[in-house]
Amino acid sequence: MNIRIFEHEEDLNVTGAGIITSLLQTKPRAVLGLATGSSPVGIYKQLIAMVQKDLVSFAQASSFNLDEYVGLPAEHSESYRSFMNEQLFHHIDIDLDKTYIPDGNAPDLAQECEAYEQRLEDRGPVDLQILGIGHNGHIGFNEPGTELTGRTHVVALKEETRKANARFFDSLDQVPTQAITMGVGTILKAKQILLIARGEEKAEIIRQAFMGPITTECPASLLQCHPNVVVLLDRAAGRWVK
Ligand code: F6R
Repeated sequence: MNIRIFEHEEDLNVTGAGIITSLLQTKPRAVLGLATGSSPVGIYKQLIAMVQKDLVSFAQASSFNLDEYVGLPAEHSESYRSFMNEQLFHHIDIDLDKTYIPDGNAPDLAQECEAYEQRLEDRGPVDLQILGIGHNGHIGFNEPGTELTGRTHVVALKEETRKANARFFDSLDQVPTQAITMGVGTILKAKQILLIARGEEKAEIIRQAFMGPITTECPASLLQCHPNVVVLLDRAAGRWVK
């Protein structure tokens, strides 16, 4: 586990974007695993700036997102499809047909999960998976519990996760109660993982995830089993890292 702590946001974003662009330079057809949420946004901005300066191209790359809400139309402003289009895809030269996000409106959600997992098997493995971390240690929407699910599946969102995401909706009632998420096994199949966390509010869960025991009660702690994880933290999130 390679944990790096940055004093300046800009340096964190440049380093994160640099890991992604180095991969694309050596492997233009790379398969990227992408995340929504606030943690990767600064890195996405940096990537957009680099594409605009012709320093990197996503033209041959493809991407798989970690998750999507169940029941929001894709065009809803808070769907993860809309988020990715606005924060990244519409500003870079990636082929939108090769950006995969689970369909949270599929008529048969179990079949959609199986099809997503199969597509990952056919086109993967993911070369580089980007992750944020929930306050409760979730990765993707793999919420803490006594058991975790390996493959892509439908998950009931914990109340704390719905509350954390309510900031993007008019009210808590509007936050979906379910999501489709890659499973922990799906995530761990990526060749390399890049986890980003920012802010004091993530300091304690970062300590538990990377300095505590491996436990399903903190899904991110399972990343300790992966041989190639890079963690980028700002000083506040890395407060307890020795
Ligand atoms: C997003 C995702 C979530 C977030 C996590 C952290 O696709 O799967 O696990 O990465 O909830 O969210 P932020 O970055 O908003 O703190």
